[in-house]
Amino acid sequence: MADETQVDRIREAFHYQSRFKGSTMVFKIDFPVTEEPSFPHLVRDLALLARTGFRVVIVPGAKEWIDAVLTEYGIHSNYAGTTRITAGAAMPFVEMAAFHVATRFMTGLSADRVDAVTGNFVRARGLGVVNGLDMEHTGKVDKIFIDSLGRILNLGMVPILPCIGWSPTGKSYNVPSNEIALSVSIALGAVKLFIISAQGGIRTGAYALPDGIAIGEHGQVIRLSPPEAEALLAANAAAAGRDDKALTELDLALRASRAGVERVHIIDGRERGAILRELFSNLGVGTMVYADEYESIRTLKTSDIPDVLRLMEPLMQQGILIRRGIEDIRGKQDDYAVFEIDGSIHACGALHNWEGGQGEIAAIATDPAYTDMGLGSRIVRFLIDEAREKGLHRVFVLTTRTHDWFEFLGFKECSAESLPEQRRKQYDLKRKSKVFALELR
Ligand SMILES: CC(C)(COP(=O)(O)OP(=O)(O)OC[C@H]1O[C@@H](n2cnc3c(N)ncnc32)[C@H](O)[C@@H]1OP(=O)(O)O)[C@@H](O)C(=O)NCCC(=O)NCCS
Repeated sequence: MADETQVDRIREAFHYQSRFKGSTMVFKIDFPVTEEPSFPHLVRDLALLARTGFRVVIVPGAKEWIDAVLTEYGIHSNYAGTTRITAGAAMPFVEMAAFHVATRFMTGLSADRVDAVTGNFVRARGLGVVNGLDMEHTGKVDKIFIDSLGRILNLGMVPILPCIGWSPTGKSYNVPSNEIALSVSIALGAVKLFIISAQGGIRTGAYALPDGIAIGEHGQVIRLSPPEAEALLAANAAAAGRDDKALTELDLALRASRAGVERVHIIDGRERGAILRELFSNLGVGTMVYADEYESIRTLKTSDIPDVLRLMEPLMQQGILIRRGIEDIRGKQDDYAVFEIDGSIHACGALHNWEGGQGEIAAIATDPAYTDMGLGSRIVRFLIDEAREKGLHRVFVLTTRTHDWFEFLGFKECSAESLPEQRRKQYDLKRKSKVFALELR
């Protein structure tokens, strides 16, 4: 039988499923991922999404495979900075390589019986002469044919856009897949863009990180708002100039989110189930750049009470929190604050007013799947700020097992005698709670 935590995760998956069903999601998937043992699993997950009503668009990156094919045929490429100048003689080989990679997706989707179409959905034009260099067959996106793409998506089919575009006169151009992914995401109003490569997101250690950025247990930057992503790129501008792949991906993510794509996820395509974890939970494995409201601490609404009780129930059963029912919470509803992530509640806490300018911090609980991410301490800080705004001079907490944590947050142990008189009268001698307090003045 599934335990409560599993049930919570299933619930969370349903929440995301109903929220995103029918939405367009663009998957920019870089070449080396197609060669990884995890690739069939990744395509199976894409097929699953397409079959369950998500509108899936695939943009395969083929740079390294194009390099390999050109080398194989002895064709040398010149570069303008980091951009390949695709010569006329190279173009047939570039097309061959780009379509080869696209076919890898067709093959995988066929195995899962999902219809896919590789097509001429990109109108391109040449870059022309840049700084005295003729860019020849290197092009940029001129237009995305959204009507044809829309018709294909409406049929439940998956369009695949290789890194080739065609001019109205029938000339073909090599167009960077990042630019196609960006343009198609904007043109189709995609709610999500996934950037999937063989590295996945920004990791600590390699980059200078702005303060206050959330770091995951695998050392990855979990999420960035556009200003944070911009600050990170600025702090690592020297590496960005050296064509650092992770920073290039972050730059693409930032441009997409600035253009209105709500969420951009940069993930490691070698990790099995990475897409589903990113999509159906808040416990993703990559770096997300988000342009919409993602998380907030706010006061409790009546409709939140069942969620808050569900968070507290196991802790009440273990005797860590004192028992409260719906009526107890409803009676003091304004005292409670909740930590909402993407529409679901994952932590809560309360500040009860007592006489003599004292406030009690209570009912602090974090969803076990979301611990050690700073939710608990942010709720406590929120309540402390609230206490200050109310003009309280002291907050205290009664705790049996979490005194170390409160001490870490700056609380000091004190005697039960220091409690407000009314609260002292309710002090449960059998519980033997320790009293910790924080002076606010
Ligand atoms: C205590 C609790 C609220 C912390 O929530 P959280 O969201 O994980 O908190 P944060 O992410 O802000 O802090 C996590 C840090 O506190 C530490 N911590 C967690 N519980 C602790 C405890 N009981 N004692 C000491 N430290 C603790 C973690 O190890 C972690 O340390 P790290 O940052 O060095 O890795 C959560 O574990 C919980 O719900 N506990 C049960 C309910 C409870 O005890 N409530 C308080 C009584 S009102």
